[in-house]
Amino acid sequence: MSNRPPRLTERTDERPWPLVLLAPILVAIVGIAVATAIGALGLSQLADATTDRASIRAEWISTLLGERISKLDPAVRLDAIQLAARRTGAEVVVVKDTGDVTLDATLGAPDANALKEMVRAGHGEATTMMGRTRYAAAALPSDAHVFVLSFVRIPRAPEGAPALVQALLALTTLLIGVATVVAYSVARDAKMDISYVTTRVSVMAVEKSEPAGERVPVRTIDEVGALTSAFNDLVSRFRTAELAYRRDLTRARAADKERAEFLAAVSHELRTPLNAVLGFADVLMSEVDGPLSADAREEIEQVRQSGAHLSDLVGDILDFSSLEGGKLVLSRAPTDLAAMARELVKESAVLVLDKPVHVRTEGADSLVAFVDPKRARQIVGNLLGNAIKFTQSGEVIVKVSLDRIYALIEVKDSGPGITASDQSTIFEAYGQGKGERTKRRGTGLGLTIARRLALMHGGRIELESALGIGSTFRLWLPVEKQR
Ligand SMILES: Nc1ncnc2c1ncn2[C@@H]1O[C@H](COP(=O)(O)OP(=O)(O)OP(=O)(O)O)[C@@H](O)[C@H]1O
Ligand SMILES: [Mg+2]
Repeated sequence: MSNRPPRLTERTDERPWPLVLLAPILVAIVGIAVATAIGALGLSQLADATTDRASIRAEWISTLLGERISKLDPAVRLDAIQLAARRTGAEVVVVKDTGDVTLDATLGAPDANALKEMVRAGHGEATTMMGRTRYAAAALPSDAHVFVLSFVRIPRAPEGAPALVQALLALTTLLIGVATVVAYSVARDAKMDISYVTTRVSVMAVEKSEPAGERVPVRTIDEVGALTSAFNDLVSRFRTAELAYRRDLTRARAADKERAEFLAAVSHELRTPLNAVLGFADVLMSEVDGPLSADAREEIEQVRQSGAHLSDLVGDILDFSSLEGGKLVLSRAPTDLAAMARELVKESAVLVLDKPVHVRTEGADSLVAFVDPKRARQIVGNLLGNAIKFTQSGEVIVKVSLDRIYALIEVKDSGPGITASDQSTIFEAYGQGKGERTKRRGTGLGLTIARRLALMHGGRIELESALGIGSTFRLWLPVEKQR
């Protein structure tokens, strides 16, 4: 036997009749058909029995009356047959075998030919003024040529028919009623189970909901039951996976928090001695402790530069860890970003040193935005620092302009450009371009911090770069107060 998985697409376009509807309809149709057949058979048998009874009565009346009037005086015979007709509810006529009427106790006797024929036949069915009747002829014992002919009406509805019809109607109603109740309860149960499953699935689909491991009680062994138990299997798997995921997430969060706390603690510890080193270097440079030789000056300058660089790195790590730990809070104030750009360009002279790189500003003279001045300066300073660091010759332009509700600050350089694969990683923590990683300068945190600070402001940073031509970093910061 092959282990072929079930074809899920099978029969999806066919819409089979729901069994819940079909079953009671079938029960009702079969029930009504059987009841109708029983009714028709019963009614025809009842009708036959009623006709037979009328025939017997007609024969009995004719025979008895024949015997009676034979013994009577001809003058009183008419009274006798009229009395008998009244008492039995039959029509009676005394005829000769030629069809001539001798005595008549009918509502209107048939004509002579018909009477003659009836006498000849002896018994049969005829229609008189009373309606459908059975008739019987009996010869008088005293005269074989004279006959008593009596007509007994056949009732229009066979006797017992109303009772039969009532019983059948009751049976049919009961059948349809039971079928409806069964169908209703099956449908209701199925609907309840399915809507319960649907609700649980929707609850489970909501993000951040509690683990939904509640099983649905399996109430039936039909398709709904199969669906429910399949759902229960799914719930078990889902619950196991969800619990594992939550456990991993909690662990990861704890690890992240620990790492951020460790980084913060270490950088804080580094900062104090570093400040001492920088402070003492400044003291030595100011020559309060005595004059310095040219070599000593150069060496102390080295100490100062390295110390400052180290201080920057420690500052980045501290910022990053407080961003990671969600501890960094912005303090916004109206800030002139154009003025800030001019200051940064001015200060950047120490970064350019003797490289043939021209740094300048462009765009608006003044553009006030409601941002954290220290952090905005940090972002733009970072972008500008990178542009100058990676550009060996040419120019670096900082342009400030208004873009709808944002202040747009573009930092454009004529540096080496950034490859497509590097563009996708440099905004990640510790992400540096391929060349930069081997040189081991910087931490690779600058852009990560810049992007996160921009996002915290409700802004963003985008990069456009072409190898060999240069890069443009665009920073958007909202001008208005953010809610
Ligand atoms: N203007 C630019 N031109 C070319 N490459 C750039 C430019 N700016 C950034 N990069 C690339 O992106 C990488 C990440 O920059 P980022 O500022 O995050 O780190 P870094 O400058 O290497 O180190 P840090 O800023 O921590 O001192 C850089 O290493 C460099 O490869
Ligand atoms: Mg940098």
